[in-house]
Amino acid sequence: MPSTAILSLSLLTITLTIASAQTFDKTYFLNRTIQSCADVQCPSKNTTTTVACTLTNETYTNVGLTKIPNTTGALAGLTWVEAIVGKDLPDNRHFFKDFFLASDPDFIPPGGACALFFSKISSKVKFVESTFPADVTQGTCAQALSEGCVAKMVERAKGVELKGLRGEEACAKLKTAFENGLDSECAGFATGTTGWTGVEARVLTGPGAPKPITPEQNASSNCWPIQPKSYDLTRVMRIDTTGDGLITTALRELFAITPVLTVFLSGDNGTTVVKQPEAQLSCLKAIDLNEASLANMSPGVPESGTKEADGVRGIPALSLAELLAVVGVGLVSLA
Ligand SMILES: *[C@@H]1O[C@H](CO)[C@@H](O)[C@H](O)[C@H]1NC(C)=O
Ligand SMILES: *[C@@H]1O[C@H](CO)[C@@H](O)[C@H](O)[C@H]1NC(C)=O
Ligand SMILES: *[C@@H]1O[C@H](CO)[C@@H](O)[C@H](O)[C@H]1NC(C)=O
Ligand SMILES: *[C@@H]1O[C@H](CO)[C@@H](O)[C@H](O)[C@H]1NC(C)=O
Ligand SMILES: *[C@@H]1O[C@H](CO)[C@@H](O)[C@H](O)[C@H]1NC(C)=O
Ligand SMILES: *[C@@H]1O[C@H](CO)[C@@H](O)[C@H](O)[C@H]1NC(C)=O
Repeated sequence: MPSTAILSLSLLTITLTIASAQTFDKTYFLNRTIQSCADVQCPSKNTTTTVACTLTNETYTNVGLTKIPNTTGALAGLTWVEAIVGKDLPDNRHFFKDFFLASDPDFIPPGGACALFFSKISSKVKFVESTFPADVTQGTCAQALSEGCVAKMVERAKGVELKGLRGEEACAKLKTAFENGLDSECAGFATGTTGWTGVEARVLTGPGAPKPITPEQNASSNCWPIQPKSYDLTRVMRIDTTGDGLITTALRELFAITPVLTVFLSGDNGTTVVKQPEAQLSCLKAIDLNEASLANMSPGVPESGTKEADGVRGIPALSLAELLAVVGVGLVSLA
């Protein structure tokens, strides 16, 4: 399988950059808004700082985890997990972004739920954090899309009349509301001019919904990128893009932000009650950090080039100077 660690180039970059910072506190990179492999213990390949997180039939190099706020009290523990991998397939280089919903096995869905993935957004949607390269930046949707746009998107979702609708029908109606309408606050962030493009709707509860990974499917896994480990993971969506072999392309495609609007319909189901329809916008992104790479980030101890970093398949090896130029990295100063 030509599955290669396309990402370790950028990992090397941040490692070297941070190694040259005067002071460095590893905990700075833990338990943030978007968590990484460093928070959920993905296994690394032996002797390298490259993650090989095998989850059912796919091996990922990085993840990003974003909790859905427990605002109503009914959504406790729900977390979106994005896992990424770049692969050279016979036709092209593919960038896979897989999205999982993590939940407590005891979680009882309220009236129903849908996820809308905004898969084609403007390059203006980004996190800017100090001088960090794009593969480790993170933040909230308010930072990536502005508070005004987030508020309008939530308002638009809650304004859709869904009474009596369930499952696919409700999801389809929500999707249409975004394809056919764009609030001025969001105008710069969509690729369409009169509506959002590339909106993918997925039903999360009921007969048409994807099911949690079963123990049988999990038998081939060495990785369960969520805490607590007792949580279920359900693969909801895959975004597959293709591109050339340049590092800038890999960084752009794999570490893009994907806004996801999770809409919970009102309903009373056993122990959980969602009185009003509830919508939460999450900005999902993979983060290029893991335990091994953090462990290597100590001042004055730069990581030597890993095998993958020196010769990523299909990507010409670059010198360190070129690498730094590619991602525009300066010195990281951590207060
Ligand atoms: C992570 O952060 C949250 C709030 O930001 C806090 O409540 C929690 O205790 C932190 N967990 C750890 C393990 O530091
Ligand atoms: C893994 O790395 C350790 C030391 O880092 C080495 O002793 C061991 O032989 C390696 N195992 C494999 C399978 O490469
Ligand atoms: C991996 O599993 C998923 C879900 O079970 C399935 O949709 C997908 O086609 C599988 N991929 C491969 C390469 O077998
Ligand atoms: C979620 O909110 C409910 C009600 O406010 C609370 O009882 C519960 O402990 C919360 N759970 C988590 C994981 O925050
Ligand atoms: C309530 O939960 C049960 C069992 O999980 C499910 O069969 C039923 O469809 C749910 N009702 C609604 C309205 O979602
Ligand atoms: C799946 O497998 C991983 C790795 O062996 C394990 O940590 C996790 O708890 C398992 N999860 C389930 C639901 O079986």
